[in-house]
Amino acid sequence: MKIVDIPMNKICILVLLLIAAACTPAPEPTPDINTLVEGTLTARDQAAARAAPTLVSPDSDSVFDNIAEVKLVWSWIRPLAEDEVYDLRVWAEGADHNGIARTQDSQFDLTNWLLDRKPGKYYWTVVVVKKDSAGSPEDELSNTPAEYSFTLSKYDMNIMDLPEGFQSKLYARLPITQPTVVTFDSSGAMIVLALDGHIVKMTDEDHDGYAETSTMLFDDPGDKVNYAVGLAFHDGKTYVSDAGRISIVSDSDGDGKLDSIQPIIEGLPTWKHTFHSNNGIVFGPDNKLYVGIGATTDHGPLQDKYEASILRMNPDGSDVEVFATGFRNPYDLTFSPKGELFTADNSPDEPDDTLAYLPPEELDFVQQGKNYGFPYVYGVAGNIGEYTGPVTDFYTSSASSGLVYYSADQFPPAYHDGIFVAQFGTGAAFPKQLALQNGQMVVFVTLTADGKGGYTGKWQPFARFRTDLAVYNPIDVTVGPDGALYVMEWNTGTVYRVTYSGNEQIEATSEATTEAAASTSADANSDLVAQGETIFRSGANGAPACITCHLLENGATGVGPSLLGISEIAGSRVSGLSAEDYIRQSILRPNDYVVEGYASGLMYQNYAGQLQTSDVDALVAYVLSLKK
Ligand code: HEC
Repeated sequence: MKIVDIPMNKICILVLLLIAAACTPAPEPTPDINTLVEGTLTARDQAAARAAPTLVSPDSDSVFDNIAEVKLVWSWIRPLAEDEVYDLRVWAEGADHNGIARTQDSQFDLTNWLLDRKPGKYYWTVVVVKKDSAGSPEDELSNTPAEYSFTLSKYDMNIMDLPEGFQSKLYARLPITQPTVVTFDSSGAMIVLALDGHIVKMTDEDHDGYAETSTMLFDDPGDKVNYAVGLAFHDGKTYVSDAGRISIVSDSDGDGKLDSIQPIIEGLPTWKHTFHSNNGIVFGPDNKLYVGIGATTDHGPLQDKYEASILRMNPDGSDVEVFATGFRNPYDLTFSPKGELFTADNSPDEPDDTLAYLPPEELDFVQQGKNYGFPYVYGVAGNIGEYTGPVTDFYTSSASSGLVYYSADQFPPAYHDGIFVAQFGTGAAFPKQLALQNGQMVVFVTLTADGKGGYTGKWQPFARFRTDLAVYNPIDVTVGPDGALYVMEWNTGTVYRVTYSGNEQIEATSEATTEAAASTSADANSDLVAQGETIFRSGANGAPACITCHLLENGATGVGPSLLGISEIAGSRVSGLSAEDYIRQSILRPNDYVVEGYASGLMYQNYAGQLQTSDVDALVAYVLSLKK
């Protein structure tokens, strides 16, 4: 603020004021800050203009167990000028001051910043700076108020939407990063494996439903373990599957910590194709070890005798055999109590001359000697000739990872004898730079015997992660000794416990009543919309998924225009065509009307040849339901 430019007449007024103030020890005049900023400052007023912002809330006694509630509020003596901003600083106890945001609001929602932070004490303060300043102390336009603090208890947060009657609660905040497997040992303790090989035990000593105590069982001395994605226990031994091998990890000196790695098999195909390796491991009722092996390519050709298969071997690694084959990347395996084996298989995501579209992912019922189609056929339509089709298809590139067969009693009967699959969600790309938005949820697959010794299945979303909050990537699921479902999230390194507390009896009755009351046509339409969503997200009959070009996120740009809110404009696109007819025509005869700004022929041209009329009906219903 410059004093030198003060015009003469104002100085006279100031002088008069000063004299008046000297003569009359009257109440101090409140400085008119807006005038002051224009440049008529006394020393005292200058100090007032530099007044520190007032921190309002939360006050320093606040304790939060829900990060969604942490909102910082402050005020200042005058409105900010256009080129001024609040510089908000937040830091954890013992850490450096950290400028986290510049804003002209006088409040800030801290939820996102806190998402991957640890419980503990946090401090915050606010100072006014010039918008484009570097933030050095001499750029500060106000004084800095003494910091406030608040405490984040072992916080919980509702990061997933579940069916009615279910609830999730934070069970563990892991002391490792990039967790890959969550399981329980024979004593009922939760054991977690990390990608870098660390193995940690999480226990809830005070039985309050939160595992506060962690014990590092294996910290990979010598850094020998890499890309560890499989963990199993058998006969008192701990087995780990990492890049190219499976090993028994044991405690050689009896100090209670694992320290020695004894490979039982080595040289398995690993990382020939990114992320593809020997994956999850499980022991069968036959006391044999089963492991899923990823393919060495995105979609062929085959070049290694063990790739793209599920191997079976003795616990010491002898007698290795290909148990079943034709998988692309079977990431995890699960046995039912009847001893039936299931896997979820990831689909290719690099289309080229030999692969025209992104096929769906699969849930497969794995039987000895069978071939599940990779790299020749994918999806239900592939249930032909020597190739066994899947139990069900998932949306393309959902990145199905951990899965578990549910046979406990904590969940209601509708969930018994089905399979939960964690779908990581992916950055798979078609065209390359576009990320698909499938996955990021846990799905549940119901199994129905098909009368021919196999199963057909239907899946539905079970836990949808709150993608409005952050990117969440569920990596594994397991069932605890208590029958609850434990869901592990990769980015935050957390495990959530999902339980059921609804009263199914009452719910079933009230649902039946509502259903009877609801018009049947509304039900039929919602079925149609659901069917349309499946085709939109994973394609059908060899035709590509619409989502590869029409992204479903507001503001995201794909190859094609956004279809969100299209029902509002579709009816006026072509005169004489209703909204419904226009969308039908856009799918079947894409070049009849080309949206402004787009080239003709960009949209996939052969839906008319590949989709059934009923597929198109479903797509039209779904596209019309898309809101902004
Ligand atoms: C290969 C990319 C691609 C795929 C796959 C694709 N589209 Fe398109 N789509 C486009 C492009 C580009 C346009 C704009 C140019 C045009 O009108 O032909 C478009 C236009 C449209 C329009 C008109 C939008 C408007 O604003 O008027 C609709 C409706 C539509 N597509 C629906 C679909 C549906 C449904 C599917 C899946 C069955 C699908 N599209 C698959 C690229 C694609």
